[in-house]
Amino acid sequence: MADDVMEKIVSLAKRRGFIYPGSEIYGGLAGTWDYGPLGVELKNNIKALWWRMFVQNRDDMYGMDAAIIMNPKAWEASGHVSGFSDPLSECKICKHRFRTDQIADPKVCPDCGGKLSSPRQFNMMFKTSVGAAEDESSVVYLRPETAGGMFVNFKNVLDSLHPSLPFGLGQIGKAFRNEIAPRDFIFRSREFEQMEVEYFVRPDTWAEHFEAWRKAMWDFIVAIGITKEKVSELEVEDGDRAHYSKRTIDFEFEYPFGKKELYGLAYRTDFDLKAHSDTSTKPLTYAEESEEPFHPHVIEPSFGVDRTVLAVLTSAYAEEGEGDEKRVYLKLAPMVAPIKAAVSPLLKNKPELVTKAREVYLALKKEVPQIMWDDNGNIGKRYRRQDEIGTPFCIVIDFDTLGEKPELTDTVTLRHRDTGEQERLSISDAIARVKDATVLR
Ligand code: GAP
Repeated sequence: MADDVMEKIVSLAKRRGFIYPGSEIYGGLAGTWDYGPLGVELKNNIKALWWRMFVQNRDDMYGMDAAIIMNPKAWEASGHVSGFSDPLSECKICKHRFRTDQIADPKVCPDCGGKLSSPRQFNMMFKTSVGAAEDESSVVYLRPETAGGMFVNFKNVLDSLHPSLPFGLGQIGKAFRNEIAPRDFIFRSREFEQMEVEYFVRPDTWAEHFEAWRKAMWDFIVAIGITKEKVSELEVEDGDRAHYSKRTIDFEFEYPFGKKELYGLAYRTDFDLKAHSDTSTKPLTYAEESEEPFHPHVIEPSFGVDRTVLAVLTSAYAEEGEGDEKRVYLKLAPMVAPIKAAVSPLLKNKPELVTKAREVYLALKKEVPQIMWDDNGNIGKRYRRQDEIGTPFCIVIDFDTLGEKPELTDTVTLRHRDTGEQERLSISDAIARVKDATVLR
């Protein structure tokens, strides 16, 4: 059943223009995915809500957009060059490669039963080179996390905006990891996006800020439309945490393929600012008047965009009825739905209906740009199509809109996705309703 749901989501995502396999016409490229017209809207809405909640709605947060390629010394300082690796084993028979910590028996190939090599540490950072020469001195890395760009700009933001502690930097952007075994659709890819906060605090206050961010992460989970009951916290034990963390909580989600990490919340101490201070020899410290300069400590809530997309789709996927009556719909939160409303004339071969519907469409589009004109097939089919992509509202223009029943002139039918209920509203009220339900707050 779980596999079945996953298959249905992957198939819907491709068929309806959410997510396609990367470079598909060339046979694909493992661990890469392309977001289509609806997928990019969904993803942008998720990122916009995150930015609104964690950057724009707060006085203690500042946005960033740092370069993906950084001076390689930054990744030496952060410990990624020496330690960002997973154990890799190769089958001596079929030559397939595995992450040793993810297979049942570290000595036996799960694919052919052959003998596996002893594990070796495989660094997951993608290497490339800058400039014309390709030698050791030109090696750079694609960032494996967005965090680094924020740590190296700590002092710049301090100097240009003079924030007082506690304050944070927030960034959304691509990250790259040469995963040994990319899998489970967009859950584990080699190119993905992160939304991260580095929140700088006084050392003795880290625990209270950790708690505050934990609550803020739950608020986001609820606002974005992830089923709360499918999310649980996991206290990551000593030895399993990243090298920089003194405390980590993983937020896990019940994906159709099992309970796995959705987000992470880490207490990174002063590890990064100290390491970058030492390596760059630039003091990344903070001090208020007459205070000894010190390295602030860091709380890091980290969100994967693609895992959010998958958790949102999984939470939203719904089916009801049987056979020809079967209805598949995505009960997406209106704020994240890629299309907010579809506008239709009841019949597409009646020019007077089409003209009026076009007028309503243009008036709504001025207020809410993510809307769709839909006049294909009969009304029932249009509703089904819109349900499947999670459109919260359908607006239909009929003969009553044109005044067949005078008291209904300039009213439309507004149909609600989840209940199928329809109500009759004036054009201006219908527009206001769509706008109010879908605007970012
Ligand atoms: N800066 C901290 C950091 O990067 P992480 O737990 O390695 O921590 C943070 O990654 C989040 O990024 C994860 O919780 C997950 O949502 C997302 N993520 C990590 N690796 C990923 C991958 N290969 N594919 C998709 N998302 C990934």
